[in-house]
Amino acid sequence: MDTSVTDTIETRIELRDYADDAVDDETKRAILEAGRLAPSGKNTQHWRFVLLDRADDLEALAERSPTGGWVADADFAIAICTDPDYGYNEIDAGRAATQMQLVAWERDVGSCMFTVDQARAREFLELPDEYDLTALLGFGYPDREIRGRKDRKPLAEIAFRGRFGEEIDLE
Ligand SMILES: Cc1cc2nc3c(=O)[nH]c(=O)nc-3n(C[C@H](O)[C@H](O)[C@H](O)COP(=O)(O)O)c2cc1C
Repeated sequence: MDTSVTDTIETRIELRDYADDAVDDETKRAILEAGRLAPSGKNTQHWRFVLLDRADDLEALAERSPTGGWVADADFAIAICTDPDYGYNEIDAGRAATQMQLVAWERDVGSCMFTVDQARAREFLELPDEYDLTALLGFGYPDREIRGRKDRKPLAEIAFRGRFGEEIDLE
């Protein structure tokens, strides 16, 4: 399998349908490490990651998510909590999440971001007041072979050269 960064970016799609196969601890560690190694503003590394890999915890998360009920069938989830006092904390969370998702894909593990009812999920996670519950990801092996078909706008529509709105005429 081609595991280049470019191929991974071109083929990785968000996965919401998971097989029953268990992801081992070494792989979970590698995914958390990918988050740990992500860049953050001023290298503050203010994030904290909560691994949820018990079936009842995944069901509790699903029950607290209006748009992520599928996480009940994931193998595990990771909550990315950040300290908003550092500023740019949402950017930092996004970068950690992306690194986790790319390393997961390299190891044939699919993933998808999801949102939750903040108040109920915070209480469930026993999150200290000073932390934001910034991003949540579900992970697991795909229930079928997948290579992404991306539904994305063309580059000419979303990228410019020199000034906003000016045509980008790359060869
Ligand atoms: C900030 C954010 C929140 C998201 N929330 C949800 C969600 O609540 N439920 C869900 O099923 N997918 C969620 N997604 C996944 C997006 O729908 C997905 O990234 C987008 O459709 C592109 O998917 P693709 O890469 O498979 O084409 C979220 C993605 C992001 C970046």
